[in-house]
Amino acid sequence: MSSIRCTLASLALGLAACSEPPATATATTTTTPAAGYNLTLGMKDFMNLVLEPTADVLWDSAGWVNDIETGYQELYPTTDADWDMVRQRAAQIVEAGNALALPGRAVDSDAWLTYSNALSAAGAMAMEAAAVRNQEDFFQAGAQMYSVCSACHQTYNPEISRFTSN
Ligand code: HEC
Repeated sequence: MSSIRCTLASLALGLAACSEPPATATATTTTTPAAGYNLTLGMKDFMNLVLEPTADVLWDSAGWVNDIETGYQELYPTTDADWDMVRQRAAQIVEAGNALALPGRAVDSDAWLTYSNALSAAGAMAMEAAAVRNQEDFFQAGAQMYSVCSACHQTYNPEISRFTSN
């Protein structure tokens, strides 16, 4: 199993355990693609076209903004339809974690899978929170997801510092 410890708790506590690159860390894909998977999307396209637009919807639906012109504004969904919409996006995050872990896309079978699984777990948290319309838990799930994005980037591509549209 993994030689580094990277639990959700350690992610939330400032990534200390997750920022140590494993000896094999490299953004070059090393696992062999299995027959039956369509891996047309390279990592950049996956991030820009699949993962980030989905994550942005969740982040843009949690918390509040206090703008000098428009004042204080809650970002959480206010209707059942909106909560259902963010729950759909959260489900897509669960599956995006799986897509990252596919043989041929996974960069290694160690930390990469830990981060991919953690992404799915954050998506599952957001799904549950959306199902019961729990704002606080929904916010925490978004924070969790952000930590996972950051931790994986820190390990595999430390130059990425900004990855949300905000
Ligand atoms: C399992 C690891 C992993 C996770 C989790 C991950 N990323 Fe990435 N991400 C990468 C790697 C590796 C790259 C660099 C790809 C490249 O340059 O080839 C990258 C690059 C990016 C980029 C830059 C793409 C470009 O055009 O240079 C964005 C934006 C991005 N990720 C968004 C996200 C968001 C948002 C999340 C979380 C919701 C996330 N990533 C989670 C591994 C990950």
